[in-house]
Amino acid sequence: MDSAEILRKRKYRHSLVRDFDSDRVLSAFLLGDDRPTLIFICQNNSDSSGTLPDLRDLERIVGMSLTVRDARKVEDGLAVVQQGQVQRVVLDESAFDREKIYLRSPDNTSALEISGEDFKALLEDLGFETESETARLRIYDFGYAAVRQSAQNRVVSGIQPSGDMTLGNYLGAVVNWQKQVENYDENFFFLADLHSLTTLPDPADLRDRIFKTVATLVACGLDLDKATLFRQSDLGGYHTELAWIFSCLTPEGRLEQMTQFKEKARKQEFVGSGLKTYPILMAADIAIYQATLVPVGEDQRQHLELAREIIRRFNGRYGYTMPVPKADMPQVLARVMSLTDGTSKMSKSNPNRDSCIYLLDNPDDIKRKIKRAKTDSNRDLFFDENRPEISNLLGIYQVLSGLAQAEVVEQFKGQGAAKLKAQLTEAVIEALRPIREQYDRLSADRDRVLEILSQGKARVEPIAQQTLAAVKQRVGL
Ligand code: AMP
Ligand code: TRP
Repeated sequence: MDSAEILRKRKYRHSLVRDFDSDRVLSAFLLGDDRPTLIFICQNNSDSSGTLPDLRDLERIVGMSLTVRDARKVEDGLAVVQQGQVQRVVLDESAFDREKIYLRSPDNTSALEISGEDFKALLEDLGFETESETARLRIYDFGYAAVRQSAQNRVVSGIQPSGDMTLGNYLGAVVNWQKQVENYDENFFFLADLHSLTTLPDPADLRDRIFKTVATLVACGLDLDKATLFRQSDLGGYHTELAWIFSCLTPEGRLEQMTQFKEKARKQEFVGSGLKTYPILMAADIAIYQATLVPVGEDQRQHLELAREIIRRFNGRYGYTMPVPKADMPQVLARVMSLTDGTSKMSKSNPNRDSCIYLLDNPDDIKRKIKRAKTDSNRDLFFDENRPEISNLLGIYQVLSGLAQAEVVEQFKGQGAAKLKAQLTEAVIEALRPIREQYDRLSADRDRVLEILSQGKARVEPIAQQTLAAVKQRVGL
């Protein structure tokens, strides 16, 4: 679709002109189709000097090199860049005040004339947010406008390599990741290895677990054509720099309210300040990739809420820069509980290995752990918050069997915990068998795992670069 068609379809008054002052013309404005197109629009407008970045800043913002015949003319203007799914527009809002805006055709022989006012309306119509109180220079992510229109999402989530992955990770997070991978084209999953430093792991262990966690994730069946896996620390500069900027916008008191912080701080002998600022880094992990959807388990709900607050505050203060992400939690069993204590979550950092089912547990381990799992003596089995252990086992069975809650209750009516345990053992063994087999194949291929991570890094780095450059420009750096 070319510019004229867009204007026509959306019924904007416009006219085609052939005789125009090329110095005052925005060069071609190809909204629309999919191939990477760089359309740089520049105009010599001395009124707005000082409000725009120089060319190099602009290049940083758009994340690629720009060729402009006369760089001095880039005093105000608009750039549209499309890279993959994201189309980024850099625009000096003074364009809106102009009486006429000319959108030059690619061959430079004609232009479409449109009023500044209509141009603003057009951008809003296309989903850009054009209101800004603080900045004249705005950066619009056209990709996200398109995202909203087409209900597309960019999915981002992370997992800490802080231990062997558990059934809680799988049912609380990974299964949902897989669902999103089926639904959407852009899915970025990462190892939150910087986050895992908050518990001061042994360096050799950590290195080992990073490898193991990637291999386990791949073994879970993540489709690597549609999902990107990377390591947070491979892009650590972007994540932590944004986290620092975010930390200046985060009220200190909010961090102390985080349940996870309170719980972990109670358990740890040494409490570093990173344990407290952890959710800020998490907000940065999400925002740096302009995520719209974050699939996580229930234990991350509070962190996600804080991330949304931080991003909203940033956008409010500096102008719309990144989407406010939504959390996506499993409908059933968003919190898988420990096998030994139904009131605490199944956690890979729990030293009691009988409290968890690990994705790589062999059938004998699974059998033994479920057999020993805490239950109660009431033979009548039903979901009841006063019976957290039974409810947890029923819940796991429900998700793995794909049955409705009522069907599960019906199946085990009056059967007692032993029967439930036997059926559950079978279901868990069957669910985990392919993961273990796939893991065994992969773990022999260290190079493949490293290659996955380096491809992942290459895929996401341009996005992180763009966001950070935009953020810095916004805050005045
Ligand atoms: P973590 O193991 O803390 O890095 O968590 C990675 C992902 O797994 C996050 O989305 C968590 O919310 C999810 N998760 C971890 N443990 C559980 C659990 N016991 N139940 C449900 N989701 C969990
Ligand atoms: N804090 C998350 C956890 O422990 C892991 C995580 C880090 C994360 N950064 C994230 C999850 C960003 C989602 C999005 O479970």
